[in-house]
Amino acid sequence: MELLKQKIAEQGVIVSEQVLKLDGLLNHQVDPKLTMEMGKEFAKRFGDAGVTRVVTVESSGIAVAFATAYELGVPLLFARRKKTLLAEPDMLCERVPSFTKGIVTDILVSREFIGENDRVLFIDDIIANGDAARGLIKIISRAGAELVGAGIVVEKCFQPGAQAIRDQGIRLESLVRIASLDGGRITFAD
Ligand code: G4P
Ligand code: NA
Ligand code: NA
Repeated sequence: MELLKQKIAEQGVIVSEQVLKLDGLLNHQVDPKLTMEMGKEFAKRFGDAGVTRVVTVESSGIAVAFATAYELGVPLLFARRKKTLLAEPDMLCERVPSFTKGIVTDILVSREFIGENDRVLFIDDIIANGDAARGLIKIISRAGAELVGAGIVVEKCFQPGAQAIRDQGIRLESLVRIASLDGGRITFAD
């Protein structure tokens, strides 16, 4: 998506060689029109996959996942992040580390909203190491649902998350691929 690339080039703030701050369009502020365009693009790419539910993890994935679900005409389910002290039998739970925050959180999905008849499209804002994605993929599988693919707004190609998911045979589509943040500049992969 050329427009998205342009916005990232304009608004992205390089924090380190690993981290690009995207608060202006993904992680703090949302551009509704641009976000709806992202949703249209994912809906186009996965339009023939028979998606019954879009799933993301709160919080930054929600806006683009909403746009995608809206375009596909299906519900959006967002996994909650919580510290769980007691096992909750109605919830599917996976513990995931967070690369930027340096903490571990539990992501939870109620069994009420996902099941064997679902064909799930996972949508997220950024993929780095892929820990959150891996956790959610496990939850989808434990629910007995079928994962038809993953749509990611920004893929950081220099970190292993996206490739690891593709290596599992999962179709992963990203809107913008970043090859490197070295030398204080954003280098796009294509
Ligand atoms: P992943 O599993 O989603 O690949 O990410 P990882 O654990 O490596 O990183 C955890 C969090 O850090 C994720 O947000 C992810 O989107 C975010 N993140 C990783 N690299 C970058 C980066 O270069 N720039 C920005 N802006 N964020 C990055 P999260 O914990 O899911 O939080 P939230 O944003 O949904 O609240
Ligand atoms: Na994020
Ligand atoms: Na996210």
